[in-house]
Amino acid sequence: MHFPAIGDFYQRLLFLLPFSANLLPEGLRFSYDEPQKWQYSYPQCGGSEQSPIALNPHKVIPIGLPPLYFGLYDEPFDELLSIRNNGHTVEFGVPPTVFGERPYLTGGLLSDFYEAMAVHFHWGSSQSKGSEHLINGRRYDLEMHIVHRNTKYQSDEEARNQTDGIAVLAVLFKVVKTDYLYYQPGLNEIFGSLLHLGEFNNSYTPAAFLTLGSLLGNLDRGNFYAYKGSLTTPPCSPAVLWHVFAEVLPISHRELPKFWQLRDRLGRPLLNTFRPLQSVEARQVFQRRPIVEYAWL
Ligand SMILES: *[C@@H]1O[C@H](CO)[C@@H](O)[C@H](O)[C@H]1NC(C)=O
Ligand SMILES: *[C@@H]1O[C@H](CO)[C@@H](O)[C@H](O)[C@H]1NC(C)=O
Ligand SMILES: [Zn+2]
Repeated sequence: MHFPAIGDFYQRLLFLLPFSANLLPEGLRFSYDEPQKWQYSYPQCGGSEQSPIALNPHKVIPIGLPPLYFGLYDEPFDELLSIRNNGHTVEFGVPPTVFGERPYLTGGLLSDFYEAMAVHFHWGSSQSKGSEHLINGRRYDLEMHIVHRNTKYQSDEEARNQTDGIAVLAVLFKVVKTDYLYYQPGLNEIFGSLLHLGEFNNSYTPAAFLTLGSLLGNLDRGNFYAYKGSLTTPPCSPAVLWHVFAEVLPISHRELPKFWQLRDRLGRPLLNTFRPLQSVEARQVFQRRPIVEYAWL
C-alpha cells in the first residue's frame, strides 16, 4: 500500500493540504443548477459510461462476482477526522489506521487493491429525495460515497485518466420516522458534525476515533450491484468501478434535515446535490448476492 514514487515534497504538500485526498481537483467550480451544462467546461461529462444510473434488479447479471474484501476497514483510524464543507458536499480525507495504512478494498469487479481516500455525501431537499443511484425505480434520501484509488497509480490525476483508476462504494439511506437513534456510531458522529459545517469551508473534528467500517453500520456487505461508470461530479472521468450496496440504511428524520442547512461558496442553500441519471448504454450491470441456494452443500 506504499507509494514509493511520492517524494518528500509531495508528502509535505499532502500534510499542508489535508483535503487533497479528494479525488476531484480542489477548488473546481461547478454547481447543481445546470448539470447538463457541465460538459461545456468538462467534455467528459458529455461522454460515455457516465454515472449515476438506475439499477434494475430484474436486468442485472446475477453471476460470477467474488465478494468484496474490506482490508483494515474495521481497524481504528490513527488520527481524528477533519470533516469539511467544500461548497459542493461535506467531505473528509480517510486517515491511516493504527496499522499505518489506510483501509483498502479488493474483490468484486476489482482485480487490484484500492486504497480508501475520501468520503462524501449527496442529498436532496425537504421537497425531493437526493440519492444519485436508483434501485428498482426508486430514489432514496441520501447517498454516501467512499472513494478509493488504485494503488498502482501514483496520483489522483493519473487514476482519473485510467478506466480502472478509482473504486467507489455507495451506500443509500432511507429516512425513518423514529426518534430512536440507530446504533451506527460512525455515521452518528458524521451526522452530528453537520451542525458545525453550515458555511463554505467550515470544518469540524469529532472527538472519536472511528473505523471506516463503522460508516457501514451493520449493512450486508455481501450484496451489491457493480458496474463501470464515472465520477458524478466534474470532470466526470470514466474511471470508476462502482459498487452500490443493495441494502438501504436508515437515517432518522432528525438527522437528514441537517444536510439541507448547509450553504455553498456563495452562501446559497446547498440542496439537491445529485447528478441526473445517465444512460446505461450497452453496459453490463452485475449483482452479487450470497449464494444461499447452495448452503446445503
Ligand atoms: C491525463 O491525460 C491527459 C490527457 O490525455 C494528459 O494530458 C495528462 O498528462 C494525463 N495525466 C497523467 C498524470 O497521466
Ligand atoms: C479555508 O479555511 C482554511 C483554514 O481556515 C484557510 O486556510 C483556507 O484559505 C480557506 N480556504 C478558502 C478557499 O477559503
Ligand atoms: Zn459522490
